[in-house]
Amino acid sequence: MRVPEQLIHFFQQQCEPQLAEFLCTEGLIPTLDAIHQERFLARSVVPHLERLATIFHTQSQEAYWHLGSNQKNLRLAYMLGFLMPNAMRAASIFAELSTLGYQQPMLKVLELGAGPASGITGMLAASNLHLFPSPQHIALIDQEQSMLNLGASWLRRLYQKSIRCVKHDMLKENFLPEKAPRFDCIIMSYSLNELALTPENSARMIETAIKRHLTPKGIFVIIEPALRSSTRRLLEMRSHLKAHVLLPCMGNHPCGALRDPDDWCHEDISWWRPESRRILDELMHHDHKNLPFSYLVLAQSPLLALPQKVTRIVSNCQKKARDCEFYLCTPEGKRRVRTRFDERLERGSILASPHLRGDPASTRLEPPLNFIPSEKPAETQ
Ligand SMILES: C[S@@+](CC[C@H](N)C(=O)[O-])C[C@H]1O[C@@H](n2cnc3c(N)ncnc32)[C@H](O)[C@@H]1O
Repeated sequence: MRVPEQLIHFFQQQCEPQLAEFLCTEGLIPTLDAIHQERFLARSVVPHLERLATIFHTQSQEAYWHLGSNQKNLRLAYMLGFLMPNAMRAASIFAELSTLGYQQPMLKVLELGAGPASGITGMLAASNLHLFPSPQHIALIDQEQSMLNLGASWLRRLYQKSIRCVKHDMLKENFLPEKAPRFDCIIMSYSLNELALTPENSARMIETAIKRHLTPKGIFVIIEPALRSSTRRLLEMRSHLKAHVLLPCMGNHPCGALRDPDDWCHEDISWWRPESRRILDELMHHDHKNLPFSYLVLAQSPLLALPQKVTRIVSNCQKKARDCEFYLCTPEGKRRVRTRFDERLERGSILASPHLRGDPASTRLEPPLNFIPSEKPAETQ
């Protein structure tokens, strides 16, 4: 997907200094510059990030915010290691929705499994840059009160309007308490996979939440890890849904990636990492220059006014001499496609009415390329 330039820099330049001040006020770090001190990060943050990474990768069902002897540093580790990357992922989805013409007012917004409210932080980042409408009332749901408190204080620092926290176990009552109102946006960022539901049960719970708690033009945004297992579960869940899929799939046609048991489909965006994340990457031999993730944006009706026959590039684009090659997701399934190299082609690009020639295993995409949203033609090579 094409991420707006100002968003690529936002978390490094604007969000990280605010986060440092917040962590200092909350007593989670001793001084503002602690988040850039290798010694502090190596001792107080890295061990907890390693523990969290193991929990997330093994998809253990254990509630983890009370684990270990230093829960303060566990929360700090999440705030430094995961909050900004997850917020960036969410922000890129809101920016994409906006460029595709989605401009509904966000009167009420909810994050389910909110933790420190990374998904809503992403919406606030996008609205701060005028890439998405600003939310008016925010609600957070999580089973862990201490994280709700932390998330609400963080959001209050960013945003001086009403924030409501509800401690609730999503597995006990169809994700939201029945008396909850309707929302213009419900976000589940990295929380669906923690519920360990079957794809059928996730679909049923999400359908219920959409019917009871989403406004007619509202959106339900799900962001999940880009791992093959969690992404395939998300795609299988999608196949059981009656709700309309707005993104990343261009409609509800059967998923081409599900046909091959080894295949899956995910997004991958790049950003300027905040300095603290860069130092943590060095200490942990990680690389968060790119942020992979899987996502779905659902709604009660097909809200995006797109032309017919819209397709999306769902792989990296590999340069092959004067051509480039990639997989295109079409209503008939995935097709391996070659076309003349064009620097605008990238994972996530959306193309309307592509002129495809040849069979599905080896297809030629002929010019002109109709990008959605329309873009200036690339400079001639
Ligand atoms: C990995 S964190 C994600 C936090 C945040 N949304 C983000 O994107 O960074 C998952 C959150 O879901 C919450 N959670 C897990 N199972 C839950 C359940 N059954 N009911 C409510 N919250 C739950 C956890 O307490 C945790 O705060």
